[in-house]
Amino acid sequence: MAAMAAAAAGGMAVAGSGQVPAMPASSWLGSGTRKSLGALRGFRAASSASSCSGSELRRAPPAQFVRSQENGRGRTRALDTSTAASAAASGTLLSSDGVGSPVGTKKTGEAPSETLHQEFKDLIGDVTDNEETVSITVVGASGDLAKKKIFPALFALFYEGCLPKHFTIFGFARSKMTDEQLREMISGTLTCRIDQRENCGDKIGNFLQRCFYHAGQYSSEDNFRQLDTELKKHEGGRVANRLFYLSIPPNIFVDVARSASRGSSSSRGWTRVIVEKPFGRDSESSAELTRGLKQYLTEEQIYRIDHYLGKELVENLSILRFSNLVFEPLWSRQYIRNVQLIFSEDFGTEGRGGYFDNYGIIRDIMQNHLLQILALFAMEPPVSLDAEDIRNEKVKVLRSMRPLHIEDVVIGQYKGHRRGGVNYPAYTDDKTVPNNSITPTFAAAALFIDNARWDGVPFLMKAGKALHRKGAEIRVQFRHVPGNLYKRSFGTDLDQATNELVIRVQPDEAIYLKINNKVPGLGMRLDRSNLNLHYADRYSHEIPDAYERLLLDAIEGERRLFIRSDELDAAWALFTPLLKELEDKRVAPELYPYGSRGPVGAHYLAAKHHVSKCRITHRGLFQVEQSLQLQDTEQFFKAGLQPPPE
Ligand code: NDP
Ligand code: BG6
Repeated sequence: MAAMAAAAAGGMAVAGSGQVPAMPASSWLGSGTRKSLGALRGFRAASSASSCSGSELRRAPPAQFVRSQENGRGRTRALDTSTAASAAASGTLLSSDGVGSPVGTKKTGEAPSETLHQEFKDLIGDVTDNEETVSITVVGASGDLAKKKIFPALFALFYEGCLPKHFTIFGFARSKMTDEQLREMISGTLTCRIDQRENCGDKIGNFLQRCFYHAGQYSSEDNFRQLDTELKKHEGGRVANRLFYLSIPPNIFVDVARSASRGSSSSRGWTRVIVEKPFGRDSESSAELTRGLKQYLTEEQIYRIDHYLGKELVENLSILRFSNLVFEPLWSRQYIRNVQLIFSEDFGTEGRGGYFDNYGIIRDIMQNHLLQILALFAMEPPVSLDAEDIRNEKVKVLRSMRPLHIEDVVIGQYKGHRRGGVNYPAYTDDKTVPNNSITPTFAAAALFIDNARWDGVPFLMKAGKALHRKGAEIRVQFRHVPGNLYKRSFGTDLDQATNELVIRVQPDEAIYLKINNKVPGLGMRLDRSNLNLHYADRYSHEIPDAYERLLLDAIEGERRLFIRSDELDAAWALFTPLLKELEDKRVAPELYPYGSRGPVGAHYLAAKHHVSKCRITHRGLFQVEQSLQLQDTEQFFKAGLQPPPE
């Protein structure tokens, strides 16, 4: 109970130990006790796609929030006088260069009372000198994700001036490593923005100097206590905010939450924990994981990451909808015929087969990345941009989803294949995958939202590994134009050439709208053209990686792009019965060749739900392909499928 009460107060609870954090609830920053800074901040301006230094759309900050001068260029950071006072009262001082040390111990022999007086004055009076510090601990620092994504994202934030002046980064894992070895390991993965490479080497050097490593066991409170001691050395007595990134296999999430909460929770600042996916395998295991974490953390402290929510075009979805009159009025069953959410990779599970075989593509991609995009796409306008308002609307969509039927699902698995003299492996060739595995590496599913806006509109999800290309996109097909004037005049089938809006999430980000157009000239030929917002042409900034945005949000306490536990429950409630049925019946996946467009069954599913792909040929006639991604047109027509009726 004590632990839960402390948790409710916003600190990292210390369960089982009988201890509760020493500070009163009101002095805990960041989580729960007051509105998150990010929520107050609003959202970042589109004019600065790659940087936190551009102009920002913000609501006026309340008086106690001041603009930090440390990065000088526009992020509002939390600083309140009570924090400064508490730091002062606890005997912590900051020197003018921001290096804090306990009163009386700062630079031995150099603490005349005037200096102390001035420092107190500085501390209380000049709140623009930010006395807080952030310590970021990457738990599982020796792993793939840490190397590939987390350290590079942290460096990018540093490079952009987005990290606070006082920050320290720690790697924590079982592997033995020195600070130097950690630096060596990550230095190879750090890159500077292509569009602004100045002082790249210096910046990398400065960043690495602030990275440290501590080896320890994940379930050892003692090891986390040692980490605490190390962190304190670097925090220098400042109000210390701590962010833990759990970049480890999910079976040790709770162990780490326990050890970290007991051993290295911040006593005078906020403590937040980013949890990587997967959050369980089904409703039951997800609920158990949530229960486990909540013994040590409050919901406000848990940042469940879905990195797709940090992708630029996914974030832009709401802006596209809610700030353009031309889209929102059309955003319903009245004008939209179907929506496709497509994820494809042109490589297999190389290196991650062990993890993947236990999860499969439905859990790996659909239940989280694609479903999150669907929720953002389909939600009602939120009351405000506050995290809770947005997440409330997403949950409503997820709860309105019709149960998934196995007849509306196709699963596949890639098989070995030789092309152009190259051998491509089968999924089961992966040494970490059992030979008889029936884990799907591809799935397509038709989903429906049973609410007034979307009744009857199929949302076709498709996700696969080892396909012919890499990409993620949202395709919105609109209904046909009533009356069809041009069909009568020219015999062409405009009903099939409906408008289509494509949001290409990656690669080569773009938003384009397919329209019908007259080919210039004296004749009357129709053409299909794109109104194209191609990011590389329009914006010179490099688009930040999703992990950058999400890490920055977590540091700022902005939870809008993280998954709340009820969202997670609703997502699992949708997919768990289907997964159970597939597994109980041991449904065999349809094999598809590595590098192909996936199983033919997916095209049938698309056809069943009238998802078509249409073009106007050079002769002005419509050629109708009846599927999303037709692997082999001839084979498809041999199957006897007819163009779908509207
Ligand atoms: P790794 O398998 O590389 O594990 C990270 C670290 O955890 C390892 O370096 C190892 O460190 C420790 N570890 C690994 N297995 C165990 C074990 N059985 N028991 C205890 N410790 C273990 O994972 P990734 O870095 O690939 O991923 C981290 C998390 O992020 C996972 O939850 C994963 O599902 C998720 N994720 C990963 C993605 C990716 O692309 N890699 C993408 C999206 C999510 P040490 O031995 O030094 O302690
Ligand atoms: C991860 C999945 O969540 O997303 C991986 O576990 C997948 O299987 C990855 O490869 C794709 O992310 P991105 O950002 O490269 O599209």
